[in-house]
Amino acid sequence: MDPIILSTQNLNFYYGSFQALYNISINIPEHHIVALIGPSGCGKSTLLKVFNRMSDLVSGNRVEGHVFFKNQDIFAAQTDIMSLRKRIGMVFQQPNPFPLSVRENIEYGPKVHGETNKERLEQIVHESLQSVMLWDRLKDSLKKRATELLPDEQQRICIARLLAVDPEILLMDEPCSSLDPIAIVGIEDLMQKLKEKYTIVIVTHNMQQAARVSDLAGFMLLGKLIEYGATAQIFAAPQDKRTEDYVSGHYG
Ligand SMILES: Nc1ncnc2c1ncn2[C@@H]1O[C@H](COP(=O)(O)OP(=O)(O)OP(=O)(O)O)[C@@H](O)[C@H]1O
Ligand SMILES: [Mg+2]
Repeated sequence: MDPIILSTQNLNFYYGSFQALYNISINIPEHHIVALIGPSGCGKSTLLKVFNRMSDLVSGNRVEGHVFFKNQDIFAAQTDIMSLRKRIGMVFQQPNPFPLSVRENIEYGPKVHGETNKERLEQIVHESLQSVMLWDRLKDSLKKRATELLPDEQQRICIARLLAVDPEILLMDEPCSSLDPIAIVGIEDLMQKLKEKYTIVIVTHNMQQAARVSDLAGFMLLGKLIEYGATAQIFAAPQDKRTEDYVSGHYG
């Protein structure tokens, strides 16, 4: 058994009086790719945002239960949110690099966290771009504005920006939904490479993508985690009728 890096126990989440997550208990093992699937509005993004406390940014939110990152309860009073979000980074649907140069995008996080050594920053830029397979393409144009790159290059910059602060978990909320099919294959290949070093939780609407990229899949419906298990099993032999209906395309 691989060690569990992230888990929830009886997690409930409320936006004001609206309950968005019901009693979620999930274990996410290290160096795996976990896909969260389910129809629109079922709480996938909410769960992802709870994982690094981005959910704190919504006023009136309330959490019950526990979320453990390596046995540390992330909602405990002593949790440092800055360092939590450094270790558990997030990529969004629309690539959102800063309107700065490629280099400045990558250096941003390390600088915020106090890195001032020029050589070290050079090295981080090099390694991070290499990890997302952009170094050869961009090494001579580090001054180019990241927002002027191709969409998939921008998404890779967003991933590289996270890698620059040495995270452990990457949360990806429909990271391919604005990309063309060829770019999607590229990002999926990249994910396979990244899982050697990181743990990835991806939300996707695309069943084929979930089946292709993930090791484990969780099916959510109306705020509940209906079924969670090996991806092959979820798709080929779901235990719950609702999962079966969903993966066979009956709704959502
Ligand atoms: N900031 C918010 N305030 C109030 N309700 C919210 C907020 N964000 C989401 N919700 C509600 O919480 C529920 C879960 O939303 P969430 O965005 O997590 O779903 P999702 O599974 O990611 O959907 P989609 O596939 O459309 O992205 C929905 O009913 C949504 O309307
Ligand atoms: Mg969502």
